[in-house]
Amino acid sequence: MRLFTDAEIDKIDPDHFMAILGKRVLHPGGRRSTEELFQRADFRAGQRVLDIGCGVGTTALEIARRFGVRVLAADISLLMVERVRVNVRQSELGAQVGIERSDILSLPHADNTFERVLAEAVVLLVDRPTALRELVRVCKAGGRVLATEFFWRNRPTVKAQRYMEEMAPGLRLDSADDWARLHRAAGLTNVQTTVGPFELMTPSAFLRDEGLKNSLALIGRAFTRLVYLRRMLWLMPRILQALPYLGYIVISGVKPA
Ligand SMILES: C[S@@+](CC[C@H](N)C(=O)[O-])C[C@H]1O[C@@H](n2cnc3c(N)ncnc32)[C@H](O)[C@@H]1O
Repeated sequence: MRLFTDAEIDKIDPDHFMAILGKRVLHPGGRRSTEELFQRADFRAGQRVLDIGCGVGTTALEIARRFGVRVLAADISLLMVERVRVNVRQSELGAQVGIERSDILSLPHADNTFERVLAEAVVLLVDRPTALRELVRVCKAGGRVLATEFFWRNRPTVKAQRYMEEMAPGLRLDSADDWARLHRAAGLTNVQTTVGPFELMTPSAFLRDEGLKNSLALIGRAFTRLVYLRRMLWLMPRILQALPYLGYIVISGVKPA
């Protein structure tokens, strides 16, 4: 795995930085929202599932392990795809999990390919209508599209908004209603949403998502380079300021038959 220079680490986005430190879960509701998404997905053994913007492949591996489906773990980032390869190799689930570098805005798959299409904290990063059209296009008729996104759960203070903008320049957060509307506009029916607090970086959610061993390893890794510590000290106050106002939303919909 390539070692990033100090200048690169100083500029890298929070998701990639956390992945470099070894964080496995990179979306706002953590494993809790993933469980809600699994319930809505109602996976059946043998189904083909796409997890686009899969990060380091944590959800894709979990789905393969628990539900006996065939998963394609896809991400646009070379770093993430490299991490997925390592994680799949270590999991012994290689026969069930494919890996691909692809863009949610232009998926290299025929229409109606997958029974389930997942995107956890990805659509909000790109052009939303285009991404959702692609998710619906590659989903089979009668299949389900499932996503987790950030939204402002409470009206943010000016400071929280400013910190969010510093961490994710240009990122606009839709309301829960906007997310449902966007999914319906993409052609999905039976659109359902559930919301919850942003927990990713609270100590209890961190421990629940990463486990004690990986949490300690991750903290230990942050101390191995000065630039990691500097980046962490820059990020943490910003995350903590924005945290009380942020939430996650799980959205699911059915592609009409
Ligand atoms: C917030 S992280 C979520 C990762 C993973 N889904 C998870 O929940 O742990 C967003 C992911 O989306 C990926 N991504 C960003 N833009 C993308 C695009 N255009 N196509 C595919 N993946 C993209 C990033 O590389 C990153 O891995």
